[in-house]
Amino acid sequence: MDAPILDTAPLVDPFQRTIDYLRVSVTDRCDFRCVYCMSEHMTFLPKRDLLTLEELDRLCSSFVDLGVKKLRITGGEPLVRRNIMWFFEQMGRHLDSGRLDELTLTTNGSQLARHAQGLADAGVRRVNVSLDTLDAEKFARVTRWGKLDAVLRGIDAARKAGMAIKINAVAIKDFNDGEVNDMIEWAGREDLDLTFIEVMPMGEMEEQERLGQYWPLTEVRTEIAKRWTISESTHKTGGPARYFDVAETGKRLGFITPLTHNFCESCNRVRLTCTGMLYLCLGQDHSADLRAPLRMSEENGPVRDAIRHAITLKPKGHDFDYSRQGVKGQVKARHMSVTGG
Ligand code: GTP
Ligand code: 5AD
Ligand code: SF4
Repeated sequence: MDAPILDTAPLVDPFQRTIDYLRVSVTDRCDFRCVYCMSEHMTFLPKRDLLTLEELDRLCSSFVDLGVKKLRITGGEPLVRRNIMWFFEQMGRHLDSGRLDELTLTTNGSQLARHAQGLADAGVRRVNVSLDTLDAEKFARVTRWGKLDAVLRGIDAARKAGMAIKINAVAIKDFNDGEVNDMIEWAGREDLDLTFIEVMPMGEMEEQERLGQYWPLTEVRTEIAKRWTISESTHKTGGPARYFDVAETGKRLGFITPLTHNFCESCNRVRLTCTGMLYLCLGQDHSADLRAPLRMSEENGPVRDAIRHAITLKPKGHDFDYSRQGVKGQVKARHMSVTGG
C-alpha cells in the first residue's frame, strides 16, 4: 500500500504555467511511415526497453496524484501496443473517481474499427484521428504503408460508439493544398471537427525537404476564408489549437500554428515516452528519467519527487523557425513518433 499523499500542490513550472495535461506515448512503433514524421527505415526500441503497462499505470497515476486532469495516449500508434485496452480500462478508474477530467488518444485510425467500442467503454469520449488527405492514392503515398479505407472504417466505428472525433491534418505544400475545401466539406458532412497543423522540424531531415513541406496556416486560412464563413470561437480543449466556427457546416475548424503564431506561453503539458523519459517541451531536449525512481521503490513517493523536480526544468518554449530560407530549432535526435506529437 502506498503512503497517503501529503503533497497535493499543483505542478507549476518556472514560468508560472500549471501543468495538468500529460501526453503518454505507449509505443514508438507504428504501422504507418508518414513522410513528415518518420524515415522509411526506422529502428525501433527493443521490446525489453519498454515500460510494462503496469509501470505506465503507476507513472500516469502518479501524475494524476499531482493534479494532471487530462491524459492523452499517443504513440507511434498507440493501438498497435499489445494489450493496450487493458491500460485504457485501468486509466478509466481515474475518470470514475473524478480525479481525471479527460482520457483520450491520438491515433492514425488504422486499428480504430476494432477498438472503438472498447475505448468508449473505458470512458474515452473524444478521439483525434490523423488524416491528411481523402485521396486513397495520396494517402498511401504520404503514409507510405497506410490504407485509407481502414481509417475511414475506424472513424465510422468511433462515431457509432458515441465518440466525438477531431481530424488532424498536417498542411503540406504541393500535397494537400488543393484539398482544403473538400476536407472542410467532408468534415461537415461526416460531423467531424477538423484541425490543420503546421509541419514541425522534428527528426533528421534535409532542410530543403522540410521547407518544401511547409505551408503556413496564415495562407491556408486566407484560402479557406474565400470559400467559407469562419468566425473565431471561444472553444477550448486544453490543447494548442485555436478554433473557428464554420457557418456553412456548423462544425469547428482548428489551427495549430507553432511557426506562424507561437502558443508556448499557455503551454500546460509534458510528454512521457514508453521508456519512462519525461520530455518537458516538444521542441527542446530537456528531459528527466522517471524509470529509475519508479523501479527504485514500490511506493510512488520517489516518482512524485522526480516529477516535481522535472517540472522545474521546463523551458520557455520551442525555437522552431523557417524564416530566411533555413530551418532553426530543429529537434534532430527525436522523431515525432517518440513523443507522439
Ligand atoms: P486536443 O485535446 O484536441 O486539443 O488535442 P491536441 O491538439 O492537444 O493533441 P493532438 O495529439 O491532436 O495534437 C495535434 C498536433 O498538435 C500534433 O501535431 C502535436 O504535435 C501538436 N502539439 C500538441 N501539443 C503541442 C505543443 O505543446 N507544442 C507544439 N509545438 N505542438 C503541439
Ligand atoms: N509536424 C507536425 N505534425 C506532425 N505530426 C507528426 N509529425 C509531425 C510534424 N513533423 C502529427 C501527426 C499527428 C500528430 C500526433 O502529430 O499527423 O496528427
Ligand atoms: Fe505513425 Fe502518426 Fe507518425 Fe504517421 S504521424 S508515422 S501515423 S506516428
